[in-house]
Amino acid sequence: MYKINLISNNLKEQLTMKKLLIAYYSESGSTKEMAETMAQNINGKNIDVLPVSEVKHLNYDAVILGTPNWYGKPTPKVVRFIKKYENELAQLPLAFFFSCMDCYKTEQAENLNIQIYCDSHFKNQVKPSNQLTSWEKSHAVNTYFNNLNKISNRLNIQSVAFFKGRLNFKKLSFFNALVMRFICLINKKIKQGDYFKRQDLIEWSNELKEHLSL
Ligand SMILES: Cc1cc2nc3c(=O)[nH]c(=O)nc-3n(C[C@H](O)[C@H](O)[C@H](O)COP(=O)(O)O)c2cc1C
Repeated sequence: MYKINLISNNLKEQLTMKKLLIAYYSESGSTKEMAETMAQNINGKNIDVLPVSEVKHLNYDAVILGTPNWYGKPTPKVVRFIKKYENELAQLPLAFFFSCMDCYKTEQAENLNIQIYCDSHFKNQVKPSNQLTSWEKSHAVNTYFNNLNKISNRLNIQSVAFFKGRLNFKKLSFFNALVMRFICLINKKIKQGDYFKRQDLIEWSNELKEHLSL
């Protein structure tokens, strides 16, 4: 009797076990660390964590895509990944997370009809949309979302999350370090540092289990 129960439990587990892909691009390592933390926390047996350049197929039940924010958009390698797999992605529940330095929420974010998660660095940065400065506008949840839609408006996005990541000039290419040094000069709020809050990411990945039916 015990054996039969064990077999049927194993079978049940196999049938309900979803295949999940966590794909990411990372230049200075914070998005990679976030992807790996998610995989540990979701703790399924069928999870692949891969840089976007190493993904060979999309034979999965759900996809989580992580990208640094570069000028309000996913990085070019992530954009190429989305375009390459657009048809497959359109069929799968998809969650995005941005590793970034800044993010603002406005009342417009409520109308997006998807789950939005802002980590504890950003969750109090809520402003009426007509009071945003141009920097804030370019870092508003709706701007990020519109930029995603411009890459593809067929994506089945269930949730988008924003986590403050890492800024380390030494880990960036010469050109990107130069750009970021310039951004730090004109916006004193942006400073080098490692801001990743592991606990926030764990909170979001717990919520995601429900949103992606994992
Ligand atoms: C070329 C470049 C452009 C960036 N543009 C922005 C930006 O517009 N807004 C922002 O908040 N962060 C920006 N960042 C900072 C990154 O989003 C941030 O450092 C992120 O956590 C890096 O992720 P990684 O450690 O996985 O590379 C930029 C970084 C680079 C290298």
